[in-house]
Amino acid sequence: TRVYVPCDTTALSLGADEVARQIQVQADRRGHPIELVRNGSRGLFWLEPLVEVETPNGRVAYGPVEPDDVPALVAAGLFEASTDHALCHGDIETLPYLRRQQRLTFARIGIIDPLSIADYRAHGGFAGLDKAVTLAPQAIVDEVKTSGLRGRGGAAFPTGIKWQTVHDEAWQQQKYIVCNADEGDSGTFADRLVMECDPFMLIEGMIIAGLGVGATQGYIYLRSEYPLAHRILNEAIERAGAAGYLGHDVRGSGRAFHLEVRLGAGAYICGEETSLLESLEGKRGMVRAKPPLPAIKGLFGQPTVVNNVLSLAAVPFILAHGGQAYADYGMGRSRGTLPIQLAGNIRQGGLIELAFGTTLRAILEDFGAGTVTGRSMKAVQVGGPLMAYLPESQWDTPLDYEAFAELGAGIGHGGVVVFDDTVDMGEQARFAMEFCTVESCGKCTPCRIGSVRGVEVIDRIRAGDHPDANLVLLEELCETMVDGSLCAMGGMTPFPVQSVIRHFPDDLTVRPTRVE
Ligand code: NAI
Ligand code: SF4
Repeated sequence: TRVYVPCDTTALSLGADEVARQIQVQADRRGHPIELVRNGSRGLFWLEPLVEVETPNGRVAYGPVEPDDVPALVAAGLFEASTDHALCHGDIETLPYLRRQQRLTFARIGIIDPLSIADYRAHGGFAGLDKAVTLAPQAIVDEVKTSGLRGRGGAAFPTGIKWQTVHDEAWQQQKYIVCNADEGDSGTFADRLVMECDPFMLIEGMIIAGLGVGATQGYIYLRSEYPLAHRILNEAIERAGAAGYLGHDVRGSGRAFHLEVRLGAGAYICGEETSLLESLEGKRGMVRAKPPLPAIKGLFGQPTVVNNVLSLAAVPFILAHGGQAYADYGMGRSRGTLPIQLAGNIRQGGLIELAFGTTLRAILEDFGAGTVTGRSMKAVQVGGPLMAYLPESQWDTPLDYEAFAELGAGIGHGGVVVFDDTVDMGEQARFAMEFCTVESCGKCTPCRIGSVRGVEVIDRIRAGDHPDANLVLLEELCETMVDGSLCAMGGMTPFPVQSVIRHFPDDLTVRPTRVE
């Protein structure tokens, strides 16, 4: 019997190792031979640890399984995939949470053993690279352009155009592929899931990028808060090299690609691409002025593609199935799928990959199933700590970069954080400014000083100290930060604050008494 127990950080933090151990103990005790596979998480976090048992007709799921549940589960026929247990959910593929998704990037996640190249290949892995080695570099870039893929790190710049810029730089010089794996936004975990649960997909995407633009060296800049991803990536790189996917001659193509992981040191700003590059070069993570763009003068002054994990992870599908197959999903200029990360005060948090065009309400209601506290939802922050809070009147907006921009909001990296009606939105506005005081790189005044003044002004408003005059001051301060900051840190910090001023003004001026 083949039994799957996930091994990603979420499942481990919920006791998956002990569950796996108990399952093995029970199997040994009963003399029932099992093959225990440590797969990645499917991203249905409220069911973790989610144990699956393979049958000829698919996998039967049980969750959330605690170590103490194991003896009773085994007695009830776990190894025979019996469905006669309260924790059994039947065939995993029939769960509405999964069935309703369009998993292109996350197609293998939770299914395969993350470090098995054989498993990866058996599920369509490396088909994109196999195709890419037969193509001219320009044809690879064209395929990505056709897909309509836009940077999934948050800025949504067309990936194919970025690649074209690097491709068009002289080929005699050293070029680089840098993967931004400094996933710092609150409520986001999609990059981590990719790296922990399907690392070869990221490696494949980076090799394809290298072949497309003429880069022979790649770096994954990984946040130090992801130690498991670090171990898994290093192991995966080692195995990919041993199997001929990395090195001087990628799959007999005569073209080289080398890959290394570099660890960050805990600064949020190092997720900003130019300060990431400074950090990669061994310097303090300070933002560089643009231009020059990293695509022209990036790492060590050389042409560099800087892409987020999710952008690069989308590439193997695009090469394997053609750019058009990806572009067939989505709406308007937002093509393909978005890995949404549903978090905060929500019962069924997790990873939801959907074509653009679905509404926020559908995500909250069809997938989220209400708040953990059972109270009504009051606000949703989409796209990380630098993005707007959306009141209920805006939840029917389709997930589309342009539609969100029209609201003064953004989709960013796809994080969706839910708050119930006890949230004090004035406190959230203050938090945005305070976060900026802590994380500012300090290079420019509107951000470094403005955020400190922002906290002070909000405190005065909330203390009833000339609230009207101070509100005007806060609005002017927000405008100055938006217009005058060098990067998105200071330039976007006002967005959540402005959304609170616009949609939750009472919370800002009157401290609500906390509802118990
Ligand atoms: P940006 O709009 O300045 O740049 C977007 C990307 O396009 C950059 O890589 C830039 O170098 C590139 N680019 C622009 N014009 C180009 C051209 N002509 N040719 C080639 N490349 C070109 O945005 P920025 O400052 O890089 O990112 C801001 C975004 O970061 C925000 O929208 C936010 O959503 C996101 N963010 C994401 C976080 C995360 O954890 N994933 C954390 C914080 C912010
Ligand atoms: Fe640094 Fe803030 Fe200026 Fe960005 S906006 S360069 S983080 S001081």
